[in-house]
Amino acid sequence: MSGKVLVTGGTGYIGSHTVVELQKSGFETIIIDNLSNSDIRVVDLITRISGKRPAFEMADLCDIEAVKRIFDTYGDIEGVIHFAAFKAVGESVEQPFRYYQNNLTGLINLMQCMLEQSKANMVFSSSCTVYGQPDQLPVTEKATVKKAESPYGNTKQISEEIIGDTAGKSHMRAISLRYFNPIGAHESGLLGELPTGVPDNLVPYITQTAIGKRAKLTVFGNDYNTPDGTCIRDYIHVSDLAAAHVVALQRLLEGENEKKHEIFNLGTGKGYSVLEAIRAFEKASGVVFNWEFSGRRPGDVEKVWADTTLANLKLGWKAQKGLEEMMSTAWQWEKNMDAGILGNENNKPDM
Ligand code: NAD
Ligand code: WQD
Repeated sequence: MSGKVLVTGGTGYIGSHTVVELQKSGFETIIIDNLSNSDIRVVDLITRISGKRPAFEMADLCDIEAVKRIFDTYGDIEGVIHFAAFKAVGESVEQPFRYYQNNLTGLINLMQCMLEQSKANMVFSSSCTVYGQPDQLPVTEKATVKKAESPYGNTKQISEEIIGDTAGKSHMRAISLRYFNPIGAHESGLLGELPTGVPDNLVPYITQTAIGKRAKLTVFGNDYNTPDGTCIRDYIHVSDLAAAHVVALQRLLEGENEKKHEIFNLGTGKGYSVLEAIRAFEKASGVVFNWEFSGRRPGDVEKVWADTTLANLKLGWKAQKGLEEMMSTAWQWEKNMDAGILGNENNKPDM
C-alpha cells in the first residue's frame, strides 16, 4: 500500500510502533504530536529502525488553525490514525475538564479537518475500559458499554459515539479499536513506553522495580474471585497492536468495511493474573524483585479478557507474541532507558 497517513500522537508509545509498521507496509507517515507525553528523539529512533524519517509536525490538536494548516500543507491524506489523547485514569478523576477538553476537542478538530477532505478514513484508539466489569467473559464487542468508571473512560465512550454518529451521516469511514492491556516494547529495544513520574501501570512498575528505580511493587488485592486472588487482564504486545492498525487502515482504504463505523477488540484472548505476570517477567528477565500485597485499588475490575474472534475473522489479524516475549522486550527497553538511550534525564530516580 502507499499514500499519506496522518498519525496523531505518533511519537507516543503505541503511535511510534504503529508508524514503524506503516512505513514497513509502504505508507508515507506524518506525525502530529504536541510532545505533552512523548519525546522528540523518538522521531530519530523510528528513523533508525525503519531507515525512513517520518514527517513530524509539532502541534496541539486543540489548535484548529494549526491542524488545518497541516492538512493544507500535506493534502491528499489517505487515512488518519488517531492516538493523541491523555490516558491516565487516576489523573482524569482529579482533572476531568482537562481530559474532556483535550481528548474531545482534539477529536472534533481532527474530524472537522477530515470532513473537509474528499477522503475521511479514521482508525481510532479506544479501550477495553468501555466495558467496565463485563457480565460475560471473554468479552465480545456486543457487550454492554457500562457507565464509565472515570472521565478518561468516558472520553473513549463519547468519542466512539461522536465517530459513529458522524460516520453514519457523512462520507467518513471509521474503525474503533478497543485495546486491552498493551505492554512490551519494540524488538529493537529502541521504542517503548515512557511513563512520566511514578507509573500507574503494572509492567512499567515491574521493570522500574527490577532495575532498582523503585523499592517494591505493590500488588493491589489478593482477595478477588480468581484462581490466585489477583486481578486478571488480557496483556497484548504493542507490536501486535501496531500491526492491527495497519490492517484496519487497509480495510478502510480498500472499502472492505461492512459498516461506516466498525469496532474491534484487540487482545490475545487470554487472561493472566498479576502473579502470573510477575512470574513471566522473572522468567523472561532472570531478575527477581521485591513485591508485596496491599488492599484493592479503587476502580479496578476483577477480570477481563477479550473475545478476539471478530478481529481474527474480519481483519485477518491475530496477536502473535506471548507474555514472556512481552516481558523480555519491556525489560530490554527499561535497560536501554537506564543506559541513557533518550539522554540521562530518563534514568534518574524520581520516587
Ligand atoms: P501516549 O501518551 O504514549 O501517546 C499519546 C501521544 O499523544 C503522546 O505523544 C502525546 O504527546 C500526544 N498528545 C496528547 N494530547 C495531544 C494533543 N492535544 N495534541 C497533540 N498531541 C497530543 O499514549 P499511548 O499509550 O500511546 O496511547 C495512545 C492512545 O491509545 C491513547 O488514545 C490512549 O487513550 C489509547 N489507549 C492506550 C492504552 C494503554 O494502556 N497505553 C490502552 C487503551 C487505549
Ligand atoms: C493491571 C493489573 C492492577 C499496578 C489501565 C486502564 C485502562 C487501559 C489499560 C487505557 C491490575 C495491577 C497495577 C501496580 C498492581 N488504558 N497493578 N500494582 O488498570 O488494567 O488498565 O490500562 O485505556 O483503561 O485502566 O492496567 O497496568 O494499571 O493494571 O497490582 O502497581 O495490575 O490492579 O490488576 P489496568 P494496569
